Amino acid sequence: MSEYQPFVAPDVAESIAVYPGSFDPITMGHLDIIQRALHLFDRVVVAVAENVAKKTLFSLDERLQMIRDCFPADEKRIEVTAVKGLLVDYAYTKGAKAIVRGLRAVSDFDYEFQLALMNRRIEREVETVFLMTGFRWIYISSSIIKEAARHGGDVSGLVPDHVCEKLRQCFLAK
Ligand code: PNS
Repeated sequence: MSEYQPFVAPDVAESIAVYPGSFDPITMGHLDIIQRALHLFDRVVVAVAENVAKKTLFSLDERLQMIRDCFPADEKRIEVTAVKGLLVDYAYTKGAKAIVRGLRAVSDFDYEFQLALMNRRIEREVETVFLMTGFRWIYISSSIIKEAARHGGDVSGLVPDHVCEKLRQCFLAK
């Protein structure tokens, strides 16, 4: 007897993706990924990790607010939220089919593979989907933007205007 089982597509009402990160701060590269994810999923939950290993420049509330200020308040397809603990547990509980991560140059690859495989080991139901950022954003990151801004470099165009202003104020005060 054949072992072939016909594939039955799951009947899901709404496809949700979780897009996690530190977002310290959100950049045009992140916004590019959110836009791409919205082409593939009905809703995107931007999940700001509360307890990240690295020390952040901005507080959790500031990071959340800067992201929220990127979208109209009545944008129903995007949710911005803080997440504590294991990200994949949150995604599963939320009913998300996927965790979205942006890939830039090859340097991202090792860490992203580790993260995706660990998340799959913990929860097999949630897939990781890698989206490639637009070419313009391949070489930008929150870290390099902060570094430039810290020394008075012009980062306009690489982050939304309100984030640019926030960075300016932050480093003026230091
Ligand atoms: O923007 P980042 O710093 O690259 O994002 C990393 C992040 C927040 C996605 C990752 O550190 C994370 O998922 N943290 C939550 C804890 C967790 O689930 N870790 C992965 C399993 S060890």
